[in-house]
Amino acid sequence: MSKLLNYLNEGISDLHPYEPGRSIDEVVAEYKPDKVVKLASNENPLGPSPKAIETLALSNDLHLYPDGDSKKLKSLIADHESVGTENIIVGNGSNEILELAARAFLNKDVSAVMSKHAFAVYKIVTKACGSEIIEVPAKDWKHDLDEFPSVTKENTRVCFIANPNNPTGTYNSHSEFESLMEKISPSILVILDLAYFEYVKADDYIKINELLDKYQNLLITKTFSKIQGLASLRIGYGLACQDLIGVLNKIRQPFNSNAIAQEAACNAILDKEHITKSIELNYSQREFLFKELTSLGMECIPSQGNFISFKGNFNAQELFTELMKQGVIVRPVALYDMPEYIRVTVGTEDENLYFLKKLRELI
Ligand SMILES: Cc1ncc(COP(=O)(O)O)c(C=O)c1O
Repeated sequence: MSKLLNYLNEGISDLHPYEPGRSIDEVVAEYKPDKVVKLASNENPLGPSPKAIETLALSNDLHLYPDGDSKKLKSLIADHESVGTENIIVGNGSNEILELAARAFLNKDVSAVMSKHAFAVYKIVTKACGSEIIEVPAKDWKHDLDEFPSVTKENTRVCFIANPNNPTGTYNSHSEFESLMEKISPSILVILDLAYFEYVKADDYIKINELLDKYQNLLITKTFSKIQGLASLRIGYGLACQDLIGVLNKIRQPFNSNAIAQEAACNAILDKEHITKSIELNYSQREFLFKELTSLGMECIPSQGNFISFKGNFNAQELFTELMKQGVIVRPVALYDMPEYIRVTVGTEDENLYFLKKLRELI
């Protein structure tokens, strides 16, 4: 076996698997708390649209392959995003789209650019392709997009940008992004990850259509895991010019998104009321949590996502464990080079109050 492992593709041996948040079942089994509140993985605390849940009963056709081209879903996404169906690829989560793009453009002779503290999957997919990672220092926790063009090398093929970024919650404006697009070589693929798009409440934020119409080297990714509350079904999508979508379609698995996920996503995208309710809850509770955490002496990074990263007079790993014993699951973010910080997802009012109560007792 050890000899076999000598022949791993370059970059894989020193790669660490993605560490997901602790699950409710794990915490119940280990600590047996009276109640568990999971604020660890930036999920929608309201869950999915009730209309999406109805589709879970559609189990009669489980023996049939799903629509490998996700036609119905793509036509609804096309309406939602005001793009053509030829500009859309559906994936098994938006992570799959990130991976497809990496497989299409990265190899051991090239490099990819990303910000420090950026979403962990960018490093994983880049290293898995054996490519060099060029990391740009963050500026006030933000992606420093001004610096991106100057660090690219002759062999740079991909740039990853999370907007807002997880776990910092910081965002870049439309004009900051556009000036990057104007400066960067058109032979570099820029991936703009908009997993938390709907949560942003800033007037100068990204206007998707203005960008897609203009740039052939742009791939936008979005997900049904966050505002749509369908994280467990694994479904997301990419938006780009037709040629780029064509390339990604060549290398994706024939039936990469399952029938139940497609149907649930179709119903979810049509339920505007649930989306609006989820956005409003996040706005008000994000503000509430930020204020409460600040008044407890915590230093919070201003967030445009559905989570807040904060530090205080505590050891993050110890506080994470103590909160877990009390039934509150949050996320330490040492993996992101933020060892002093804890990331908490914005939950329902009840969940947030429970978290704050337990936090107060512990600090
Ligand atoms: C910035 C960012 N991009 C992408 C994803 C992955 O989303 P999906 O569930 O669609 O794979 C996440 C998940 O947490 C994320 O934080």
